[in-house]
Amino acid sequence: MKLELHIWRQAGPEERGNFEKHQVNDLDPHMSVPEMLDHLNTRIIKSGGEPVAFESDCREGICGQCGFVINGDIHSPTPGTTTCQTHLRSFKDGDKLYLEPFRAKAFPIKKDLVIDRSAFDRIIESGGYIGVNTGQASEANSTLIDHHLAEKAFDAAACIGCGACVATCKNASASLFTAAKISHLSMLPQGKPEAEQRVKKMVAQMDAEGFGSCSFTGACEVICPQDISIQNIVDMNRRWRKAL
Ligand code: FES
Repeated sequence: MKLELHIWRQAGPEERGNFEKHQVNDLDPHMSVPEMLDHLNTRIIKSGGEPVAFESDCREGICGQCGFVINGDIHSPTPGTTTCQTHLRSFKDGDKLYLEPFRAKAFPIKKDLVIDRSAFDRIIESGGYIGVNTGQASEANSTLIDHHLAEKAFDAAACIGCGACVATCKNASASLFTAAKISHLSMLPQGKPEAEQRVKKMVAQMDAEGFGSCSFTGACEVICPQDISIQNIVDMNRRWRKAL
């Protein structure tokens, strides 16, 4: 399989970037996009060049590290799919692919396709945890949790923190990420004692990081590879107003 790759190359955060063209003619349609870049990098390294910097860890859609933009699509042309789970068979032989990093002020580009998502880490550090002493693990059935609520909390906890919601939002808002992290803790009994402080601190940190405001277009929900619901943003806003 042949692809004409146009890859964003940028030596560092302050450097100017540009698309670099690579014609690759010996690709297997069953390769994933990171495997294609591994293949290309082997060729670049053999010829003495600088390999393309990109991130990946799990390569199975759970760590959230791999995301970048392919032909204008956040992560992938296939809905609900991370970059690492996108295979070359999703494209046509001879296609041109333009690969570029997620673009948002709060996600500065570190190098090539690698962005700095540490703003998300600082939002979590500000309140995305349970700090109360819950004692020893109690007997499993002593705290009964409504099944529907447990499912909702689990759905919110499925957020992989990839940043696709920010990258697709016209305001570069991190509301879906922040709301998901608030929801999955605050719905459950162990997370309730700190729920008010959590929402105040995490929303304040989200604003301090320079993310934009949510204008509820719903683009984040559509692009999210984990199908996180924007109902979490509604819940976050309600919790935040009550906590003030
Ligand atoms: S590498 Fe982990 S989600 Fe893609």
